[in-house]
Amino acid sequence: MISVILAVAVFVVEFQRLGRIVNDRAGEIVSSFNTQVRPMLDSLGEIDQSVLQQELKMLLIAGKSRQWMGQLVYSSIYDLQGKEIGTEIDTQYAHMGDVDNLVQSFTHLLPEDMNSEHTFKRIKGVPYVQLTFPLTNSAGSNVAVVEGVFAVSDIARDEVMGRIARSVFGAMGIVLLTTLILYPVIVTLIRQLTMMTENLLESNIETLRVIGSAIAKRDSDTDSHNYRVTIYSVTLAETVGLKPKLIQGLIKGAFLHDVGKIGISDQILLKPGKLSESEFEIMKLHVNHGIDIVRRSEWLKDATDVVGYHHEKFAGEGYPHGFVGSKIPVNARIFAVADVFDALISSRPYKKAMSFDKAMDILNQGRGSHFDPFHLDTFNTIAKSLYDQFAACSEQKLEKKMESIIRQYFSREYRFKAGGEV
Ligand SMILES: [Fe+2]
Repeated sequence: MISVILAVAVFVVEFQRLGRIVNDRAGEIVSSFNTQVRPMLDSLGEIDQSVLQQELKMLLIAGKSRQWMGQLVYSSIYDLQGKEIGTEIDTQYAHMGDVDNLVQSFTHLLPEDMNSEHTFKRIKGVPYVQLTFPLTNSAGSNVAVVEGVFAVSDIARDEVMGRIARSVFGAMGIVLLTTLILYPVIVTLIRQLTMMTENLLESNIETLRVIGSAIAKRDSDTDSHNYRVTIYSVTLAETVGLKPKLIQGLIKGAFLHDVGKIGISDQILLKPGKLSESEFEIMKLHVNHGIDIVRRSEWLKDATDVVGYHHEKFAGEGYPHGFVGSKIPVNARIFAVADVFDALISSRPYKKAMSFDKAMDILNQGRGSHFDPFHLDTFNTIAKSLYDQFAACSEQKLEKKMESIIRQYFSREYRFKAGGEV
């Protein structure tokens, strides 16, 4: 593009320059011609045509003196009313027919600013300069106009085209050289940027794991619950067709749902028996602590939907807000089903694991009161398969599945596809 723009610019500049040279040279010749015919111009009505014709012929001959640039092939004199006084053409010139057509467009009038004029015309690839000069009489008044056609020679045209070609190839060379020099630099920078982006993603995922693991260590000594609820939630979200961008927040939220328990004292968090009413009120604050923690990280902010609302119930009897139905974020409604399901089928120090059928019975009893009916009904269709695959499997297998979910939703390729961010 730079080369093309430059070519056009050089083309215009070079032909303007050629036009000026032709015009200046023609101006000198016409000035000398004007001196020769000035006495005749004093009385236009009594002009001796043969003398004038001879002078016009001399004008054409003078116009040939710079052969390399081209030649004057036509000249004609008109009075101020546009009436022809005399015309001379170069009969030797091969393209006189083209010149005749060009002459048809002449106005035969003085230029408006009374100065000479020159215009470029191109006919069948041959460039011509159309010239107009005023002629003065002995009193210095403009009394006639001389029009001429200068045919630019092949040599001059080739010279101009050569300059254009040299400029264009020069520009292309510079552009190519600059590109060759800059290309490896740009590629290296892009590689480094990609690596840094990957490292940033790894760091963020690591943070997710560390925080999730930290709270698991205080609560139940295992990361398995966090892994399982994340796997169950994501599978349910995929089954109901949740947007991938929301699933990203669901993954982070599910993994960190009880992160706020870090802020609950051991006396309450690890109490073996049932909590008193006041203790339970304190326990409820883990939701607020959780929001406080995740909102400090730009990357973890979208976990808030689960962290802050996972104890809300569909009919409005949950905490901390008592939100009803769709006012509860969709990620929290999905997660609530997965969280309670896993709690029922898992063993704890204070209880045994419940059977699959019993757990599903209890879940379905909460349809419309605790759980969103749509999500619970969908979960009923996938629960057995999830139970068989993950309920009793090792932490390593769960970790592997978790890894594949993270890769699927946070990999670079995925982010490009989904237009998401790290
Ligand atoms: Fe919780």
